[in-house]
Amino acid sequence: SIEEKVDSLMKLMTLEEKIGQLNLPSAGQITTGQATNSDIAGKIEKGLVGGLFNIKSAASIHEIQKIAVEKSRLKIPLLFGMDVIHGYKTTFPIPLGLSSSWDMDLIEETARVAAKEASADGINWTFSPMVDISRDPRWGRVSEGSGEDIFVGSRIAEAMVKGYQGEDLALDNTIMACVKHFALYGAAEAGRDYNTVDMSKIRMYNEYLPPYKAAVDAGVGTVMASFNEIDGVPATGNKWLLTDLLRKDWGFNGFVVTDYTGINEMIAHGMGDLQQVSALALKAGSDMDMVGEGFLTTLKHSIDQDKVSIVELDNAVKKIITAKYKLGLFEHPYQYSNVERANKEVFTKENRRFARRVSAESMVLLKNENNVLPLKKSGTIALIGPLSNTALNMSGTWSVATDQEKSIPLLEGLKTVVGNKATIVHAKGSNVDYDIDFEKRVTMFGKEIPRDGRSDKDLLDEALKVASNADVIVAAIGETAEFSGESSSVTNLQIPQVQKELLNALLKTGKPVVLVLFTGRPLAITEEAKNVPAILNVWFPGSEAGLAISDVLFGDVNPSGKLTATFPMNVGQVPIFYNHKNTGRPLGNKEGRFEKFKSNYLDVKNEPLYPFGYGLSYTTFDYGTLQLSTKEISFSEKLTASVMVTNSGNYDGAEVVQLYIRDKIGSVTRPVKELKGFQKIFLKKGESKKVSFTLSIEDLKFYNSELNFIAEPGDFDIAIAGSSDFDFEEGFVLKNRE
Ligand code: IFM
Repeated sequence: SIEEKVDSLMKLMTLEEKIGQLNLPSAGQITTGQATNSDIAGKIEKGLVGGLFNIKSAASIHEIQKIAVEKSRLKIPLLFGMDVIHGYKTTFPIPLGLSSSWDMDLIEETARVAAKEASADGINWTFSPMVDISRDPRWGRVSEGSGEDIFVGSRIAEAMVKGYQGEDLALDNTIMACVKHFALYGAAEAGRDYNTVDMSKIRMYNEYLPPYKAAVDAGVGTVMASFNEIDGVPATGNKWLLTDLLRKDWGFNGFVVTDYTGINEMIAHGMGDLQQVSALALKAGSDMDMVGEGFLTTLKHSIDQDKVSIVELDNAVKKIITAKYKLGLFEHPYQYSNVERANKEVFTKENRRFARRVSAESMVLLKNENNVLPLKKSGTIALIGPLSNTALNMSGTWSVATDQEKSIPLLEGLKTVVGNKATIVHAKGSNVDYDIDFEKRVTMFGKEIPRDGRSDKDLLDEALKVASNADVIVAAIGETAEFSGESSSVTNLQIPQVQKELLNALLKTGKPVVLVLFTGRPLAITEEAKNVPAILNVWFPGSEAGLAISDVLFGDVNPSGKLTATFPMNVGQVPIFYNHKNTGRPLGNKEGRFEKFKSNYLDVKNEPLYPFGYGLSYTTFDYGTLQLSTKEISFSEKLTASVMVTNSGNYDGAEVVQLYIRDKIGSVTRPVKELKGFQKIFLKKGESKKVSFTLSIEDLKFYNSELNFIAEPGDFDIAIAGSSDFDFEEGFVLKNRE
């Protein structure tokens, strides 16, 4: 068995070699041909490295694996990790975009395709899925997660783990997943990345932990500790989190990796010097040390001084070696770095076709006054905006393996899709941003749209001239990739001023304007929502961006995405999310008018700009009356809720049908709405379908003040709707336990 193999290998290992297995350096700039001369190569040869990350290409990885399995004493193969979070070379929309598709099969398949491509190119471990619930669009990393909801977030966590890991981790086209960032990273105070988190246990259990648990239940191989503290102790050194909760309560048996220099960062958190924090991390349950070399440089000393026991060290080593066995690395160390397979299976036509479909499915139609969309493939279309003709930025954050230059810009996509049926004219219109010192910013991937040398006025004049002959204007504006993702928090959620001015000038022409919005976060586009007739939110769509956007603009694909994160009216409303609690002083009027001594703002309503679950289609869907199989259920019974949904408009289309409940009275306060089910259905024009959901006692449970997961008898509201913006009209009763 694997266990026996691990045990016998461990008997041969020296203390140094054991500690070496816990070391995960970044390969940095190593490229093919250099590996053997690098400092890391020397360490690998001495058995001081357990895995490597940030290294690209089958050839480089093959070369490095060779050092481990041919030159090191025990020939233990290396893990090769990478942030493959929304595709590999074939790049899918950013995760927040993917989640807006609400299509779990599709999302699982994106992870499958990513695993196939990445594994061919040498990668056997991805730092994904990121399942941090976040209700704060100031936080740049909202782009990497699945939004604000526990239920959708959990389903996506499962789908992605399944997609990456498949049925058998030992196959050469599956890779090990890593759920991150455990835990609560999305709740950083003020939306400032890496900031403190402070949260009650009851909120943690009910609102933030479920997606991580869903990934663990789906069999995720590894967990990444988060940078933030939890109950005053940084996650990396938090024994309650990494051992009591994760391993003992949840039964996780893979290994925990730190997030980058998470161990070293505990020095700044005020937890001690490097030796102390490294010991703290290991004892808490961190197994692998990413980058910081705290384990490598201090653990031996701590063992000599009896501050860490051999058993504690062995536990961590065992888990890492077990993972290597599970991946099949001992038998086939080169199975993941197959140059021939990489040449054949990466960025294939088929994968790109799939990506085009996925991108279109992730887009959310936010507004479509007077059916401006879909556009006709005729006349003259002016494409204006700084994001209209760039291959850079189409894929958004963490597009680590993406060949940016190969992404399809919108201009190219439009031209391809309309062929010679319409004339496309184009102008840049403005730079991306003047608000911050854009040029001097440190970028993660070093790829920003270069600043145009022309003045604002010249750019605008040119755009207006180009637009003057057009029948309709498509404005491609918004954020660039580096505006969201890690270390990209903001305090202003509006479109950069220079682009707003461009948009206003375009609106003044009196021609219909379609805003194609690129963004990695919910933006406060209140002004645009009022003034622009049509808004299509495309997130960062991935490598097939231009084609997918055009498919939707011309109605070849009917948009079906719905928001998984609330769009606020302004930054002051943040955090704003649909599944909030009631206050003791809720508003008494449905219109949201201000009421003194009630919980509201003087200057803005409580309502968001666009709610969770919202998204339009070119067709319309009518919901019939909600039907319940019973009005009363016992603890052992189930309730079926059904509704007839009809496509009442003029196009075939898909609809995300959502089931919500409210637990009206509890021993602890409960949210005003909770999503408990969803189905994405396709309806031909005029077609109707009955959509049914079955609720069991498990769906009614929550953690009470003793942190017991229970359901309480009493009244519940229930509704099936097309977004979270509705009023409950029906209910049922959970009867007392007999
Ligand atoms: O996986 C990432 C993590 O999300 C943020 N810090 C760096 C890690 C490795 O690249």
